[in-house]
Amino acid sequence: MGSAGHLSSVLLLAFLLGLHHSSGFWIVNVVFPPPAKPKVPSNSTPPLIIVPGNLGNRLEAKIDKPTLVHWLCYKKTEKWFPLWIDLNMFIPIGVDCWIDNIRLAYNRTTRRSSNSPGVQVRVPGFGQTYSIEYLDYNRLAGYFYTMVEHLVNVGYIRNETVRGAPYDWRLAPNENAEYLAKLQNLVEEMYNQYQEPVYLLGHSMGCHYVLYFLNQQSQAWKDKYIRGFISLGAPWGGAVKVLRVLASGVNDGLSMISNLKIREEQRMVTTNAWMLPVEGIWPSDHVFISTPTFNYTTKDYQRFFKDIDNEEGWYMWEDTKNLTSDLHPPGVEVWCMYGMGLPTAVTNIYDEVFPNGDPVDFVYADGDGTVDRFSMSLCKRWVGKQEKPVHITEFRGLFHLDMVFHEKVLDQIQDILEGKSDTPTEVDVRTDTE
Ligand SMILES: *[C@@H]1O[C@H](CO)[C@@H](O)[C@H](O)[C@H]1NC(C)=O
Ligand SMILES: *[C@@H]1O[C@H](CO)[C@@H](O)[C@H](O)[C@H]1NC(C)=O
Ligand SMILES: *[C@@H]1O[C@H](CO)[C@@H](O)[C@H](O)[C@H]1NC(C)=O
Ligand SMILES: *[C@@H]1O[C@H](CO)[C@@H](O)[C@H](O)[C@H]1NC(C)=O
Repeated sequence: MGSAGHLSSVLLLAFLLGLHHSSGFWIVNVVFPPPAKPKVPSNSTPPLIIVPGNLGNRLEAKIDKPTLVHWLCYKKTEKWFPLWIDLNMFIPIGVDCWIDNIRLAYNRTTRRSSNSPGVQVRVPGFGQTYSIEYLDYNRLAGYFYTMVEHLVNVGYIRNETVRGAPYDWRLAPNENAEYLAKLQNLVEEMYNQYQEPVYLLGHSMGCHYVLYFLNQQSQAWKDKYIRGFISLGAPWGGAVKVLRVLASGVNDGLSMISNLKIREEQRMVTTNAWMLPVEGIWPSDHVFISTPTFNYTTKDYQRFFKDIDNEEGWYMWEDTKNLTSDLHPPGVEVWCMYGMGLPTAVTNIYDEVFPNGDPVDFVYADGDGTVDRFSMSLCKRWVGKQEKPVHITEFRGLFHLDMVFHEKVLDQIQDILEGKSDTPTEVDVRTDTE
């Protein structure tokens, strides 16, 4: 695809992860992931498993479809091909083929999701790192590459002491029992191999997956197998941005796909409903969406889904709303790290074309540009609620996705892994004090 393909996958990344901001700095990071600087090797490399965020690992598909949305779409493939990231989504008709391949069909009776008819989907690379380091097969769209490279520089070994736990991020954990079982096996396998408890590291929605996983385990199991949980940029109380994504779509500067087109895909994944702002955590009078006819709060989700003509979303929300919303303490030592000090939308204001047009204005609060600080700081509730320590570090001036790239974050992760568990409460990334 040459440089056009290159550029599109980069722009695509900017749109995805639900976590994007349109800063040029960020795009530069993805195309040219900052090289990890040479480090003094450490003799402490406890086993580490990384759980990526939404859209944060590769997916592959194989198709034999009964019907096509367009005659130009492929009907049948012999081999597994990349579904995420699939560069076809940047071609006008390709995007429709792609949406029809990646979408989920939701059944309101069984309350289960299934793949689009005739589509098989698999997650490549479980237990290895390649599927979270780069999201595309040309290794252009970097995600965890910089962090893994940093770890390798201090003595970690890919696929051995540092491993990835990719998953089908279209599904919330209530429909991903098999993944949770695999994650448990991976933890036990690494523990047995290295005779040391394992660190779990999550980013964004991946942290909710880790919390859900830990909440399912007995305290005895956690005490034996888990050394700690490093949480990066978790929207613990949900993300306001998801309401905008579901209402009018968000392409985040990916101009070849309209917001309304990408909305078709965004409404079909149950994880978006799972990440809605949580009732009972947000003030009950906080307006997330304001239109000329109605102000929507957490009490108005049923009406919201009806008004945006996405009633299935209401069922998806009902299915997933209590998975992690009570923020039950994880029961392991936690390092909760997130960005702040950046304006972040907490109310989307629409005019009368709602929901078929973009917001015309926003109300901002403190956050990391994508998720507000209030939501991410909710891990503070665990202090004193569990036996194990809870450490919180706020990174002033750090954008949501830069959490996985920034050297100050990587250095702190290294300190934690080396056993220096007392971390600062605030780090300013705007000043360069290296
Ligand atoms: C949903 O599942 C039920 C029970 O398996 C089945 O009878 C029904 O046809 C399904 N609905 C759709 C729309 O597929
Ligand atoms: C990790 O596994 C992947 C997939 O099997 C392989 O391509 C890669 O070379 C491995 N990395 C190392 C350092 O062994
Ligand atoms: C929504 O809230 C705003 C700000 O409080 C208020 O000015 C507006 O009248 C409300 N709109 C409706 C439809 O209630
Ligand atoms: C969530 O709700 C479902 C169905 O209402 C229930 O079966 C499940 O136990 C609940 N889970 C939690 C963690 O409360």
